[in-house]
Amino acid sequence: MSSTGQTAALSARRSGPLRGRVRAPGDKSVSHRALIFGALAQGVTEVEGLLEGEDVLRSAAAMRAFGAGVEALGGGRWRVTGRGGFVEPEDVIDCGNAGTGVRLILGAAAGFDLAATFTGDASLRGRPMNRVMKPLAGMGASFLHRSGGRLPLTLRGGSLQGIVYRLPEPSAQVKSAVLLAGLNARGDTVVIEPEPTRDHTERMLRGFGARVEVEDLPEGRRIILAGGQALSGTRIRVPGDPSSAAFPLVAALVTPGSEVTVEGVLLNPLRTGLLTTLQEMGADLTLSGVRDEGGEPVGDVTARFSALRGVDVPPERAPSMIDEYPVLAVAAAFAEGVTRMRGIGEMRVKESDRIALMAAGLAACGLAVEEEPEGLIVNGAGGNRPPVGGAAVITRGDHRIAMSHLVLGLAADVEVRVDEPGMIATSFPGFVDMMRGLGADIGPA
Ligand code: S3P
Repeated sequence: MSSTGQTAALSARRSGPLRGRVRAPGDKSVSHRALIFGALAQGVTEVEGLLEGEDVLRSAAAMRAFGAGVEALGGGRWRVTGRGGFVEPEDVIDCGNAGTGVRLILGAAAGFDLAATFTGDASLRGRPMNRVMKPLAGMGASFLHRSGGRLPLTLRGGSLQGIVYRLPEPSAQVKSAVLLAGLNARGDTVVIEPEPTRDHTERMLRGFGARVEVEDLPEGRRIILAGGQALSGTRIRVPGDPSSAAFPLVAALVTPGSEVTVEGVLLNPLRTGLLTTLQEMGADLTLSGVRDEGGEPVGDVTARFSALRGVDVPPERAPSMIDEYPVLAVAAAFAEGVTRMRGIGEMRVKESDRIALMAAGLAACGLAVEEEPEGLIVNGAGGNRPPVGGAAVITRGDHRIAMSHLVLGLAADVEVRVDEPGMIATSFPGFVDMMRGLGADIGPA
């Protein structure tokens, strides 16, 4: 449920200028990791600004089940007391909607002598887990699972051996699962990623006192972690989530007269592909107050209404903005000309098939869209003619599909309605209130 309590359909209507300063909720990737690393470590980890979304709360419950002390102290402050290892959980671990949660926890748990059964909601039970089971099995873990490598599955961990693993798909989740397993494996674990993906795991391993070597080679990035390293509790300040900041920022770019600042946004260069792309589209974006917070660059991002033009997004940029393509497709819908997004096959195995759902939603809002096996092409409505809108959009319970279409509705001719908006709370509790505070006309359908 959203913070305003709606689970029924929501509508976004053409709004006046959006104005104000807001703070993005805590970064989801960093929040999951803060809890998991804190639980693996010896001693106390104090976390500030944790994302209290449903995905992360599932990871908090999972860490308790594996034996860590996890306390919410209020206002995004959490204390994790790690025992330097995991114990066997008494019950099934339900990761809800969270792919990051389940894949990272599988890696973390694989290093211990335990059995654990994992499940999730209908979306997560449909997503591929082979991508983590394969390398973890190569290290010595074993699995019992449904056909197609789906959840529910049971992990039997312990006695792992380090591995040299070249990522077949650009996935920070898989990289992180292998590195977390490598912490409790014999010998070195080496991950080679042909395309660099978000490096929060590498940064956080160092923050918890582990040695990690990273080398940029012609064949990609090589990460080397020696097994048997103990982590020690630390302090973590979670930066604002650029994947959530994307929604108010794009809303300001497409809604005439708007100026919105999102404060404290994580600006890790492996997460800023959307900002680069929007700037290439002619977006008026300014960064200010860029600073280092707990080993990650953060800053305030201001977006002003802009005449956007279509662009070709380089496929190699995909890992740095993989969760932002749905809202980029909305920006593209308002642009003059064509935006081509290619090399985004990973979008099909997210919380939903996001290429298919964005293509369907935009088409239902009157846009000319082409769907490719690994791409999405949007013919923008153009500067003076906003998209028609008027659709009832099917989100299949995907939070980012819901938020993207609500952003579209703020500047389309006819209101846009989304089903299942309750799922927004998995990553962005308070989205509706924040947007309303900026002047957005979003309410019950
Ligand atoms: C994440 C990695 C990405 C991203 C997800 C968070 C992470 O998934 O889509 O929301 O925290 O490592 P993949 O690694 O599967 O691309």
